[in-house]
Amino acid sequence: MISRRSMLSGTAALLTAPLVSHRAMSSDAPVEALVAAPARVQIAPEGYPQTEVWSYGGTVPGAEIRARQGDRLRRRLVNSLSEPTSVHWHGIRIDNAMDGVPGVTQKAVPPGGTFLCDFDLPDAGTYWYHSHNQSYEQVARGLQGPLIIEEADGPDVDREEVLVLDDFRLDPETGGIVGFANMHDFSHGGRIGNIAVTNGVFNKTLAVKQNERLRLRLINSANARIFDLRLQGLTGWIVALDGMPLERPQPVPDRLLLAPAQRADLIVDVTAEDGGEAHLVRFDREEAFSQVLFDVKGRASTATRPAPAALPPNPDMAITGLHDALQSTLRMEGGAMRGFQSARMDGREVGFREAAQAMNFWALNGVVGMPDAPLLTADRGQTVRVAMQNDTAFPHGMHLHGHHFREVLADGSLGPMRDTLLMFADERREIAFVAHNPGDWVFHCHMLSHAASGMMTRIKVL
Ligand code: C2O
Ligand code: CU
Repeated sequence: MISRRSMLSGTAALLTAPLVSHRAMSSDAPVEALVAAPARVQIAPEGYPQTEVWSYGGTVPGAEIRARQGDRLRRRLVNSLSEPTSVHWHGIRIDNAMDGVPGVTQKAVPPGGTFLCDFDLPDAGTYWYHSHNQSYEQVARGLQGPLIIEEADGPDVDREEVLVLDDFRLDPETGGIVGFANMHDFSHGGRIGNIAVTNGVFNKTLAVKQNERLRLRLINSANARIFDLRLQGLTGWIVALDGMPLERPQPVPDRLLLAPAQRADLIVDVTAEDGGEAHLVRFDREEAFSQVLFDVKGRASTATRPAPAALPPNPDMAITGLHDALQSTLRMEGGAMRGFQSARMDGREVGFREAAQAMNFWALNGVVGMPDAPLLTADRGQTVRVAMQNDTAFPHGMHLHGHHFREVLADGSLGPMRDTLLMFADERREIAFVAHNPGDWVFHCHMLSHAASGMMTRIKVL
């Protein structure tokens, strides 16, 4: 038996005391508001009309939220929109009650309502936040922003840039955002915009110096566009994917694919000459465009440096117990060209045509939309493997909430830790993760028109 006296003495008491007072202090601090409201911004090039958006804090992307690893983040979501909304903190291994999924973890916040977001930040890295209610429309209207969690010891770079890559579908006459629930988008590759932007502007330009070393935090916040990127006049390494540090920095490949919701942290050196230009190039149907122009003016004093060290690892990145893992499968079906024979929708069996009439085009394991039972139920701490099979004619970016996973590669080794996996037509890929975070966690395609039209399931961690 432990006496009261021994519990209160010694190091245990010394360690708990400051923690308790820190929490008491932070809960007294005023909570900053995160206001979701309409705003007008210039997205299209000068000369075109302004665009009415829905935004967090009046800008698109929304106000950058920056904190340090180990901090607690507190924001009061204030809904000043005309419809219900919610906020999801994408990629954070968060307390389930704070995950922001209406119908699963909370009720949507009605117009005029508020919701207190209050959670720990266990991991450093590049994350983002976005609406999770009618997200195919609300995110497209601008309800998204970067969430940057700094390492205690950041990498040795001259500076960093957060680059939110997105696209908008604008009516060139009115500047308005158009075309949300569109049958063609829902059943094909999702809603692709007609103007690609970086940090909410067309033709993003940054002034840099030759030999400067930059950390670029890339975030794909588009509804459905897969950014297909190349560096030109810049050379560098990927140091993190979906927020999670790579064990070893990898040279940036010739083509870097970023699916919707994915992030990549790059450390790059400006190799273009003083007076020249460098680019983050975007390929669109094999045509090259400048997504970001780096205007090279002047020279940094330091010459070329050695390759960067790995970022400090986040906690609990290891996955063990692959051999006695809980095994599950996920079959993706539907969409234009292939459809499905039959699937369960609203508790009964339907054919593809009937589902399509209700604007549903996709099924996961033969179920359209959120199933009654979770895909799998894991004990807390259990290792889980999900074998996934894309039997559709389209790519999908599959995102698991509350956890990061690793891909089980063909040779049995594990890929980088991610929260969103891009799967092309006919691919079979397997992921593994440790179900460390209790709660109901949605698992869905992040092509948001696909999520809205059937590609949605959930897992349960006890
Ligand atoms: Cu980025 Cu379910 O969300
Ligand atoms: Cu999809």
